[in-house]
Amino acid sequence: MSQTADSFSRWQIPGRIEFHDTPDMLVRLEIQTARAQAAIYLHGAHVTHFQPVDSAPILFLSESSAFAPGKAIRGGVPVIFPWFGPRAGHSCAPMHGFARTSEWDIESIADADETVTVTLRLNASGVTSAQWPHDFILRHRMTIGAKLTMELEVENTGTESFEFEEALHTYFAVGDVREVSVTGLADVDFIDKTDAFTRKTQSSDPIRITAETDRVYLNTDSTCELHDPSRPTPIVVEKSGSHTTVVWNPWIEKAKAMTDFADDEWPKMLCIETANTGQNAITLASGETHIMRATVG
Ligand code: BG6
Repeated sequence: MSQTADSFSRWQIPGRIEFHDTPDMLVRLEIQTARAQAAIYLHGAHVTHFQPVDSAPILFLSESSAFAPGKAIRGGVPVIFPWFGPRAGHSCAPMHGFARTSEWDIESIADADETVTVTLRLNASGVTSAQWPHDFILRHRMTIGAKLTMELEVENTGTESFEFEEALHTYFAVGDVREVSVTGLADVDFIDKTDAFTRKTQSSDPIRITAETDRVYLNTDSTCELHDPSRPTPIVVEKSGSHTTVVWNPWIEKAKAMTDFADDEWPKMLCIETANTGQNAITLASGETHIMRATVG
C-alpha cells in the first residue's frame, strides 16, 4: 500500500514539520527551523533540499529527475545500500542497491530548539531478501540545523555476518563545476572509473574538474572542502565511519545519455560521496551495528 501524508499526521507541527502528498504519489517531509529548511522524501529516505538561512541551497536537484515508485531521485542525497554501483556477479541487480528506491518508515522525529532530527527506518522484507538474503535494519538519521548531519546506521539482525557497501551520494550545487576545486584528498589512492578502473594516486594539488570524473578514493577518513567562487565560504564535508570518498561529475556526453538529468545540468553539480565501497566494504557480525556519518554545510 502506498504511503500518504495523512498517515504521518501525528508528527506534524504546522510551519515546522509538515508532510505533503506530491503529484507523483510520494510523501515529502518539509522542515523549517530557525537555522535552515529542508525537504526529505520517504521514498529512498532522500534529502532533496537543504538550505541554511542566509545561504544558497547546498544541494543540487535535477529538473529532469524522476519522482516515482521504483525510480531513484536524481540529486539531493541518494542513500546507497547494500551495494555500490553494479552488483558484482548479478547483472540484473539495480545499480547502487535498493535503499534509494524503497519506501521508508518514520521511526522518530525529535524537535529541539534549533534542530529537527528525523529518523527513517527500512526493515528487511520479502522484497529485499529476494535481492539480498540478509536480515537487517537500516536507519537514516538526518539532523537539520545550521549544517545537515546524516547518519546511516546498519544493524545486522540476522544470525550470520554479512558484507555491505554504502554511500551518502551527495550532489552539491555549484556555480560552475569548471571553476571549483576540492581539497582534502591530497596523496590519496583512487580508482579511476573513467580510465578502466586504473589505480592512481592523487597529487597534492586541489582537485579540479576538467572532464568526466568518476573517482573512488580509498582508505580516506579526511574532511573535504569544496571551494566554489560563487559562494562566500567553502562547503565542508566532514565524516566518520567512512573510509571511501567518491567524486563524480558526468560531464557532457554522460549527461546527454541520462534520461533523468538535463543535458545542460552537468556544470551545476558535483558529487562528493561519503562511502564505504570496494576494499572498504564493511563486514558486520550478527547483532552488530555500524554507523557512517556525514555533516555538510
Ligand atoms: C557514482 C558512480 O557514485 O554514481 C558512477 O561512481 C555513477 O559510476 C554515478 O555513474 C551515478 O549513478 P546512477 O545509478 O545514479 O546513475
